[in-house]
Amino acid sequence: MKQKVTVVGAGNVGATAAQRIAEKELADVALIDIIPGVPQGKSLDMMESAPVEKFDARIVGANDYDVAKGSDVVVITAGVPRKPGMSRDDLVATNEGIVADVVRKVLPGSPDAILIIVSNPLDAMCEVARRVSKLPRERVFGMAGVLDSARMRWFIADALNVSVENTHAFVLGGHGDTMVPLPRFSTVAGIPIPELLPKEKIDAIVKRTRDGGAEIVNLLKTSAWYAPASAVVEMVDAVLKDKKKILPCAAYLQGEYGMKDVYLGVPVKLGAKGLEQVVEIALTPEEKQALGKSADAVRELFRILKV
Ligand code: APR
Repeated sequence: MKQKVTVVGAGNVGATAAQRIAEKELADVALIDIIPGVPQGKSLDMMESAPVEKFDARIVGANDYDVAKGSDVVVITAGVPRKPGMSRDDLVATNEGIVADVVRKVLPGSPDAILIIVSNPLDAMCEVARRVSKLPRERVFGMAGVLDSARMRWFIADALNVSVENTHAFVLGGHGDTMVPLPRFSTVAGIPIPELLPKEKIDAIVKRTRDGGAEIVNLLKTSAWYAPASAVVEMVDAVLKDKKKILPCAAYLQGEYGMKDVYLGVPVKLGAKGLEQVVEIALTPEEKQALGKSADAVRELFRILKV
């Protein structure tokens, strides 16, 4: 393949993203993890599926960053999940150290790469990567909104028994309890869902979207990976193919939506230069207030960062 994507973290999300990138023949993949044997073993297993799945992209696993050299995009999924008894601050401190270390190691070999952050807490880890890399916001953004809106799209498609391809969903804000799904911009074949579903049903979809991560954790006792991997691969695809696709991503706002110096989920245009534009829409006073609350929650996390 002409292009290369490095995926750091060969766990559930990282390995599934690597598999999808290769199967779609978007790029060659370098898969990196600290656990000896895991990225190598998963890469070999995936390559052994290639003759059957019919893809010619290469996946190479490693514990160091030599194989990552010359990457166009770096996806960072490395981190630890929150364990019982672990405070939010402890999680931030641990994952902050991991994300900072990954950025310092990957960037020298791929000075032109675009960084897509997946590690949680997402908005704070984007800020860690931005501070450590010192890259402009065009090249450091995070995956959350594509996942949240994909979940909402599935709930809408399921409720109306229509093709998922007919659905669009609009989600703003931080990744978590303060996210702001916007039903009036969520559509089925162009028709806003408030014209298709009763208010109680929409409220239930909004709540389920907001709690989407927790619903999976309750079932699996670990966090989701199929939909998160799909979401990050859609972003990788938009960048590698210079699609100029408008997708909800965690972006470093510089005055847009009345917010400054904070990562927040907003619609952005993704292309070869990365985040090429933040798309602004007029919000109602209630929506603005909800977005402000979301930004406050993200800023609170920024305050405990050490980088
Ligand atoms: N360098 C490289 N890899 C690392 C490092 C590091 N410094 N530290 C941890 N890892 C690896 C782990 O060894 C593990 O294989 O990151 C991987 C994380 O994988 P999982 O634990 O399976 O987590 P996953 O479900 O993939 O989620 C990854 O995305 O959605 C978020 O909250 C989630 O932060 C988490 C991330």
